[in-house]
Amino acid sequence: MNKFITKAKDMINKKDILKADELLRAGEVIGLPTETVYGLAADASNPEAVKKIFALKNRPIDHPLIVHIASDRYLKDWATDIPERAYQLTRAFWPGPLTLILKKAPFVSPIITGGQDTIGLRCPSHPVAQAVLQVFQGGIAAPSANRFGYTSATSANHVRQDFGDEIPLVLEGGVSQIGIESTIVDLTSNSPTILRPGMITQAELEAVLKCPALLSSKNSPRVSGSLASHYAPKTPTSIFEWNDLLAHCNKLAPTDQVTVIAREKAPFHLPQIIWKEMPDNAERYAQLLYHTLRESDQLGVREILIEQVPHEGDWAAIYDRLKRATVRNEN
Ligand code: TXA
Ligand code: MG
Repeated sequence: MNKFITKAKDMINKKDILKADELLRAGEVIGLPTETVYGLAADASNPEAVKKIFALKNRPIDHPLIVHIASDRYLKDWATDIPERAYQLTRAFWPGPLTLILKKAPFVSPIITGGQDTIGLRCPSHPVAQAVLQVFQGGIAAPSANRFGYTSATSANHVRQDFGDEIPLVLEGGVSQIGIESTIVDLTSNSPTILRPGMITQAELEAVLKCPALLSSKNSPRVSGSLASHYAPKTPTSIFEWNDLLAHCNKLAPTDQVTVIAREKAPFHLPQIIWKEMPDNAERYAQLLYHTLRESDQLGVREILIEQVPHEGDWAAIYDRLKRATVRNEN
């Protein structure tokens, strides 16, 4: 049994699913809940609809989109030369937070793939996303539903905050259960490569593949989430080891309002600090991460200070997102 299958079947409202299907067929973009983060969804076989996603997100045109499908039976519609490894992974992790990079099928529009000959495919487990895919049948292109470079959306409200009435429908699906984006594995070369870490870990992938799955060290724009700065709040945000965090807090001037995000209780109370205690468990931390960053951003504080998390295992993906949320791109 796949541990990521959401049981919240009662979130499915048939009328909304049919409305979503109708809008997708009409070439519109909608907000779609998934178990990782919410997506901005459009018909992947309609280039004009897909172009609307890029315009809405303000996303560079060479950053490819993931196509969401209802099950691995649809892989052949979008990909070619599919290695057996792909099916090993889909059997273990689909539906769920894993995206596979495969060689694209000839007809797939370059607008989806950023002009590359590969395609990202994912089968989400969220019951609302599944219900839409079952009715729609085709592929749904969906990047995370945030403005380019900003913190991803983990609730329908986040999507409405970012896009308001620019999209005709945001499907309600509760709070995203995983909370950070899918693990992306490239299967187009001899050795599987993790392009973006996620809550399906390197060790879990290697256990299924029975071979190494190396973490890509490249900072290439093939994966926009691999740009140095991404997922970033608007408020200046930095990471500190615990002792440095305390030292920094002790130096704050009385007017320096800050938010601290840490896995410990506040060891002191200073009026200028809003302390947000996070779970010391990677799965639960990931669930709350973007919500906490967005909430902190809205408080109008001068700085957000985050306690460093472990680099390894379950924490690797959170470590990666925090790193990118706290660097500034030069331009
Ligand atoms: O969990 C997720 O993956 C969410 C939900 C909505 O499914 N989607 C998501 O999409 O995170 P987005 O566009 O924010 O990030 C997708 C990443 C991008 O960094 C993109 O560059 C990469 O996937 N990607 C897509 N197709 C690719 C390809 N053919 N080769 C390499 N990277 C690719
Ligand atoms: Mg994104």
